[in-house]
Amino acid sequence: MAFTSVLAGLGAVTPSNIVSNEQLAHMIDTSDQWIRERTGIEQRFICDTLETTSSLGLAAAKLALQDANLRPQDIDLIICATSTPDKTFPATATLIQAQLGANIGIAFDIQAVCSGFVYGIGVVDAMLKAGQAKNALLIGADTFSRILDWSDRGTCVLFGDGAGACVLRAVDAEEANGKGVLANVLRADGKYADILNVDSGASSGSRVGKLRMEGQAVFRHAVTNISEAIIDCCAKAGKSVDDIDWFVPHQANKRILDGVARRLNIDEAKIVVTVQMHGNTSAASVPLAFDVAKKDGRIKAGDLVLLEAMGGGLTWGASLIQL
Ligand code: UT7
Repeated sequence: MAFTSVLAGLGAVTPSNIVSNEQLAHMIDTSDQWIRERTGIEQRFICDTLETTSSLGLAAAKLALQDANLRPQDIDLIICATSTPDKTFPATATLIQAQLGANIGIAFDIQAVCSGFVYGIGVVDAMLKAGQAKNALLIGADTFSRILDWSDRGTCVLFGDGAGACVLRAVDAEEANGKGVLANVLRADGKYADILNVDSGASSGSRVGKLRMEGQAVFRHAVTNISEAIIDCCAKAGKSVDDIDWFVPHQANKRILDGVARRLNIDEAKIVVTVQMHGNTSAASVPLAFDVAKKDGRIKAGDLVLLEAMGGGLTWGASLIQL
């Protein structure tokens, strides 16, 4: 039997603590005006000491299950996309599996930084199509506040914490009737590992490390890479960019979203923008934005939705989903 991966549920959460640009301007040499003009960010959510990647991921997972009308026991594959796991091991996905009370199944993390959720869609889609699972829970969760250098104004103003999750179901392709993940494009180019990374880790330095970024260098790659991924993904699915109802991009910088829109001639009204309220939440960014636009009624059943992201690695990609 041929299977299609159909989106069955979505959920997202942010920590309760909101930090505005003005608050940051009291801590470091920055201003609300600089942050808004250069990025579009107005505020971000930051974890308190008790909140973790797994606690946010668990809360998002529960909402996605509820939306899909499924129980934890129905899930046989859990993937968590994160670069800020609770522990070096075990995988955050296994921690969430245990706290959910899901049955024994497959559970592991993937690490593609800000592209993690889009990479996750590609991995889940391949596994469901191969018959390896029936109901998958994909979580994108990150707590970048823990790896920021709060004295580096070039990076600490950009990021926030959060989590989003979706349920993808393997459905008989004929029954799916055109719904489901139509195409994925996943790319990486490790030559650029140095322009966005964390400067230490378990096997090099034995500490978690801090995020370092050459912002302008990353920016230069972003518009080109994302535009190419969108074009390739549409071509794979036999669709044109004009066919897409909603673009749900990774929320790194409003200027990057505008640049892609100009290059591909995308109507800006079709782009979901949440960077102003979330900042850059890495692997959580795409599902958080998706959830906002679904909850406020913009994204509806029957819509053709394109997800895209680019992040450290460099990694980037796009997924096209028919709802
Ligand atoms: O999610 C992963 C992907 N990440 C991205 O896509 C990020 C891509 N890069 C960017 O979004 C932008 O490059 C940034 C928002 C990070 C920076 O914007 P920019 O327009 O490239 O600014 P810049 O780095 O060239 O800095 C311009 C000036 C510098 O001052 P001088 O040298 O011109 O005097 C910086 O020191 O702005 C200064 N600056 C700041 N000023 C106030 C840097 N950060 C700040 C700050 N507040 N927070």
